Amino acid sequence: MSKEFKRILITAALPYANGLLHLGHLAGAYLPADIYVRYQRARKRDVLFICGSDEHGVAITVTAEKEKTTPQAVVDRYHPLHKAAFQKFGMSFDHYSRTSLPIHHATAQEFFKQFHEQGILKEKEEQQLYCEKDKMFLADRYVEGTCPNCSYSQARGDQCENCGTWLNQTELINPVCKICGSTPVVRNTTHWYFPLGAYQERLEAYVRERSERDGWKENVLRYCESWFKEGLQDRAVTRDLSWGVPVPVEGYESKVIYVWFDAVLGYISSTKEWSELCGEPERWRTYWQRDDTKYVAFIGKDNVVFHCIVFPAMLMAWNDGGKEQYVLPENVPANEFLNFEGQKFSKSRGWGIDVQEFLKFFPADPLRYALALNLPESRDSDFYLKDFQARTNNELADILGNFVNRTLAFVQKQFGNVVPTCGALSERDKEMLASLAKAPESIGSYYERYRFREGVIETMNLARSANKYFNDSEPWKTAKSNPEQCATTLHVCLQIVRALAILFEPVVPDIAQRMWQTLNLEGSPRDAGWESAGKAVLTTGRVLQPPQILVTKIDDAQLEQMAQSLQEPSPSAVPMVPLKPSITLDDFKKIDLRLAKVLGAERVPKSEKLIKLQIEIGSEKRQIVAGIAQHYEPGDLVGKTIVVVANLQPAKLMGHESQGMLLAASNQDGKLSLLTVSSDLESGSVVK
Ligand code: 2FM
Ligand code: ZN
Repeated sequence: MSKEFKRILITAALPYANGLLHLGHLAGAYLPADIYVRYQRARKRDVLFICGSDEHGVAITVTAEKEKTTPQAVVDRYHPLHKAAFQKFGMSFDHYSRTSLPIHHATAQEFFKQFHEQGILKEKEEQQLYCEKDKMFLADRYVEGTCPNCSYSQARGDQCENCGTWLNQTELINPVCKICGSTPVVRNTTHWYFPLGAYQERLEAYVRERSERDGWKENVLRYCESWFKEGLQDRAVTRDLSWGVPVPVEGYESKVIYVWFDAVLGYISSTKEWSELCGEPERWRTYWQRDDTKYVAFIGKDNVVFHCIVFPAMLMAWNDGGKEQYVLPENVPANEFLNFEGQKFSKSRGWGIDVQEFLKFFPADPLRYALALNLPESRDSDFYLKDFQARTNNELADILGNFVNRTLAFVQKQFGNVVPTCGALSERDKEMLASLAKAPESIGSYYERYRFREGVIETMNLARSANKYFNDSEPWKTAKSNPEQCATTLHVCLQIVRALAILFEPVVPDIAQRMWQTLNLEGSPRDAGWESAGKAVLTTGRVLQPPQILVTKIDDAQLEQMAQSLQEPSPSAVPMVPLKPSITLDDFKKIDLRLAKVLGAERVPKSEKLIKLQIEIGSEKRQIVAGIAQHYEPGDLVGKTIVVVANLQPAKLMGHESQGMLLAASNQDGKLSLLTVSSDLESGSVVK
């Protein structure tokens, strides 16, 4: 059921201009997108590759407040850093824009206005958390609390990072203002809502139809299904903030458009800017508003709902207006997460490597290759430095580099660095040329199906069989015994070098270009066209360039040096959780801390984190529920004397009443230790 497309529009998630890009970002959206784009360009398809910085959202204003600067200053710092990092990594965007530009504001406002005028957006008064000290509503990340779904203690106002639930901030348990640490109050405010629920049926049909046509990934379909099953809800698309795209409705000038509503439109505004820079201001419409454009949106898994549900619904709503008709994503190949050395990348813990830092030590291509083989395509995967070293040395250098080098060195020595004549083909030559002929199609078919890892493995397998062909042909022997056969072998080998340059270009563009130059060919491998990799078109008699080292091996010392630099706190790492603002002694005295004895403990059924404890505080027996199941076995707790906040209002956690809270210390790695007292003081004793 495939459809004939005339052009391909490719977008990669717009990264927040707030913090450095790390390897996890590359493996999530950017490398797969770039491989796909480079491959499609080699197929000579009309391709446009769009990206840019996402410069709104509360995370940016929080950074600005932390650094005592303005949000504009934050994005002005990170936007050029992103651009430079992407460039160094070899990303081949046609355009990289930013959402703080007027062209983007105008685009987002145009959508908002049209939805407002068409009566699609509904105004609703709702309850929101308000900080009386900071005198503001606490949108999204301005508030943190315990997730009502999984009990994660640092869930944000809009989403719990731990279980992925999209939250309504008033559902947070024990909410805290992120700016001043105080407890916010609930107040009424008015916002505009997008009726996502009204599009559910069409969205389900859309996902079904496109996934049948273009083969959506299982993981993406699973996410969509779970959203659909839960039932789509109306979503507020305005926020009480000052940083963002101002709401273009009278009386609402003090509010801004919700960051996700504007961010996805960033793809369109970036294309518009590209168009203007080309001197053809209307050209963007060719990519966005023609039915024969295939639109593919590359993202990481945390963005699925916005690209498979919210953005398509917005485009449907616009298209219903009867003006221009936008194309909807044909596919959204989202990757899962990449871990680094067995742990999650974490900005706050300073864990991971930022792209620029990595590329100070090693060139981009080995990184691209190692990441490509570790892409978290269907589940989370791991990146280990040792594996990176092994891939570089044992595969890129010992297989690809070695094959190219031995071929060129042999031709230089034996044939005066000129492509030798192809004589009569032996069975072995024919077999080799036959696998070469099949390679573009078989590798390409993986890329067409967004299976990049397999495509790259297949490409390296071709280099592997080329090495075997070289060995089995023994040209060092036939040079004397059968010079014609020797010439034929090297002729075939040179055809393979040319083919490998074309086929490897999407993954390791710099290495491929150098292979191309060594063959003394004009332009780039891409110019020759993908299919031409299967043909033996390198002409006899062509004079070659002297061989050069293609891939430098990585030794242990270099790797060690890199690992060392990771130990040093990165400038973006926060050394410890910032201290809260000071309080008076009277404030402190309001908290009634007591010693309590644990009488019994059991896991809360269906919860990974919660343990229900029966405790005794003096003569009183109580039940408390604590998120410590990943750190303690219930049996180990019984008999311990712990410290509890005895006058905390009772709360319900997963339906179980908790009459107090125990004290525990935790570090930024998520390790946790209960505060216990090893004296014979009786329970109920006051802690002060
Ligand atoms: O998750 C993120 O980094 C978002 N800034 C991605 C936005 S993608 C698109 F909507 F712009
Ligand atoms: Zn506050």
